[in-house]
Amino acid sequence: MFFESAALRRVQPSATIAASAKARALAAAGRDIIALAAGEPDFDTPENIKAAAIKAIHDGKTKYTDADGMPALKEAIAAKFARENGLTYKTSQVHVAPGGKPVIYNAMVATLNPGDEVVIPAPYWVSYPDMVLLAGGEPVSVATEAATNFKLQPADLEAAITPRTRWLILNSPSNPSGGAYTRAELKALAEVLLRHPQVWILTDDMYEHLVFDDFEFTTIAQVEPALYDRTLTMNGVSKAYAMTGWRIGYAAGPEALIKAMGKVISQTTSNPSSISQYAAVEALNGTQDFIKPNARLFQGRRDLVVSMLNQANGLYCPTPEGAFYVYPSCEGLLGKTAPSGKVIETDQDFALELLETEGVAVVHGAAFGKSPYMRVSTAASDEAIDQACARIAAFCAGLRG
Ligand SMILES: Cc1ncc(COP(=O)(O)O)c(C=O)c1O
Repeated sequence: MFFESAALRRVQPSATIAASAKARALAAAGRDIIALAAGEPDFDTPENIKAAAIKAIHDGKTKYTDADGMPALKEAIAAKFARENGLTYKTSQVHVAPGGKPVIYNAMVATLNPGDEVVIPAPYWVSYPDMVLLAGGEPVSVATEAATNFKLQPADLEAAITPRTRWLILNSPSNPSGGAYTRAELKALAEVLLRHPQVWILTDDMYEHLVFDDFEFTTIAQVEPALYDRTLTMNGVSKAYAMTGWRIGYAAGPEALIKAMGKVISQTTSNPSSISQYAAVEALNGTQDFIKPNARLFQGRRDLVVSMLNQANGLYCPTPEGAFYVYPSCEGLLGKTAPSGKVIETDQDFALELLETEGVAVVHGAAFGKSPYMRVSTAASDEAIDQACARIAAFCAGLRG
């Protein structure tokens, strides 16, 4: 008989992956589905990056590398942090893993003991609490509000910290809300953190390059150098360079932490694909020409979605500073009845009925720890977004009661 571990029993499968899978299954069954549930850019990896990978194959760079990343990539990462974030790291302070996800997991496994708490502002990226649980820790979710673009407030951070708090996980710009912290907002959080030396900070900067309206991206170790010795600054090539399938994520931080994370990866996955590592070197060292046009493209889509959703009956959509998601509220529609006769009681009901009735896939807010909202991805063509928003508006208009 199958036996599941107690640690795994505490964990949910990824709701975003489940939503995308359901949309794909309906489309495969012949339904006309527009999926705004994806967490990846809808275009191809740039040619120079592909060429570097092909060259690596032809050059026979197909063997094991150091488990936590080859020196050339660590150097490219250290150079990126110096160039873009004003942060100085030695290569011995850099960790590379098969995606941003395992970087976070390795950090949690390397540091958490039973009962250790990790503060996570909600709405959060679905995987944070589950990774903390798998690593034996306790996620402590702290609510944020739409009025502040879902950003953690210093007083709420202060109230959430206990003697058992080991980490704060910050994510800016955020998946799912798109909210991004200004320098002043980070400084205010840093002031709280300086009072609590037992708390380390994991900052997930995956969407760094997707910021809008001249927003200036900054990261907490840059804003408050006194936190450098307890900050893990995490990033990756997945979103910035449309490289989700290549599986390269990285982080830099204090040497002792990086060494511990290296121990985890050396006994688990070992190195990420050598070919992907060569591609990532080119991504970081090569031309950055497409990054700004890319951000402008996503800004245009954000503007389109925010404007269309705010015109839909009963929806309210804040304007995010970055990433490729918006996080509208469907509170105004709870209690209403869908054409199927089903009463919309939760954001999950809303998302399910929307998919069934209009064939638009979004992810319900409960999956991200904040209801009643939904995450709408803008990683789709303008045409698809336009059509999907029109269908969402039709769905909202068709609710009765
Ligand atoms: C906020 C955030 N962090 C990390 C990741 C993981 O990235 P990767 O695909 O490199 O594992 C994602 C992916 O969706 C994300 O949205």
